[in-house]
Amino acid sequence: MGKKLYIPGPVEVSPDVYQAMCAAMVGHRMKEYAEVHHRVTTGLKNLLNAPGPVFLSTSSAFGVMEGAVRNLVQKRCANFANGAFSGKWHDVTLRCGLQADKFSAEWGRPITAEMVDEALATGKYDAMTLVHNETSTGVMSPLEEIAEVMKKYPEVSFIVDTVSSMTAVPIDLGALGIDVCLAGVQKAFGLPPGLAVFAVSQRALEKARTTPNRGYYFDFEEFEKNDLKDNTPSTPVISLIYALDHQLKKFFAEGLENRYARHRQMAEATRQWILDQGFGLFAAEGYRSMTLTSGANDGKTDLEKLKKLAGERGYAIDNGYGKIKNQTFRIPHMADMTMGDLRELFDLLEELLPQVRT
Ligand SMILES: Cc1ncc(COP(=O)(O)O)c(C=O)c1O
Repeated sequence: MGKKLYIPGPVEVSPDVYQAMCAAMVGHRMKEYAEVHHRVTTGLKNLLNAPGPVFLSTSSAFGVMEGAVRNLVQKRCANFANGAFSGKWHDVTLRCGLQADKFSAEWGRPITAEMVDEALATGKYDAMTLVHNETSTGVMSPLEEIAEVMKKYPEVSFIVDTVSSMTAVPIDLGALGIDVCLAGVQKAFGLPPGLAVFAVSQRALEKARTTPNRGYYFDFEEFEKNDLKDNTPSTPVISLIYALDHQLKKFFAEGLENRYARHRQMAEATRQWILDQGFGLFAAEGYRSMTLTSGANDGKTDLEKLKKLAGERGYAIDNGYGKIKNQTFRIPHMADMTMGDLRELFDLLEELLPQVRT
């Protein structure tokens, strides 16, 4: 038996989503696929108010993160890093053989508009990467403020990972002017992993066409050419696309504003609960994520043991990521989760905490 997932991705998947994945298979060059593809990409464009196309990539998010730099870095990339995933993106950029510099903020702190402005003012860069919601720390950087600064640098491709924020907070691409906005579906979309979605601006599509050595699998021009026929360059993960079609219908039925409000309410309740238990909040005030909250260990709690005890009760919980493992723990509040799910977790933890605290 699987455990109930209370980790910040992959998240717990609702039974109706699994059901949607079981629809009969079709060939991706058949008109039946084109219909689903069209519906899904139209839904994503509406969700994001995307002025350009939204593509479907059969990969995890890192595939598109790598693809974005391969398509859009011609000169030098500024990678802004304030946690594990944003830091790794710098490594990925270098491993693609590209020129790049890393601009770091302390874990727990956001990337600020001032940092971005200062780095780009040097004129050295033609692309930048930003992780909107650092899942490793629970920090959400101020996307609107950074987008405002980016308007001063139209020659710099603005590449944003919204892996753990897309669908949970408003992301208005028309207003933000982001060149690539990407997400994996195993977080706030509430789907099993294996599919990534990414919106690309016309400006970025034009630039990508002139970039050498961008490979095949993540070549934006290939995505664009196929998407015009409601298709993908290579065989997509069709079952997950059925599930995404289903989830998008649910998002619009719930109402996007209600969906964002539900995430906000769960975030606030989680922060309060963590404080009530005597823990601190790891992320800086004003930059706390709407989809997961990082608690700061009080130094008296054996988080490994807590995880083990929760596991024995059929729950998967988190005890921190990377260099802040066991110093922090992360509670997710995203996708199809409700206040009822959170209460279930809090009840369990309130029962177990006295056994793991000294
Ligand atoms: C913010 C962020 N970016 C990137 C990734 C990497 O995603 P994937 O493992 O789907 O490639 C993750 C995974 O947790 C993430 O949270």
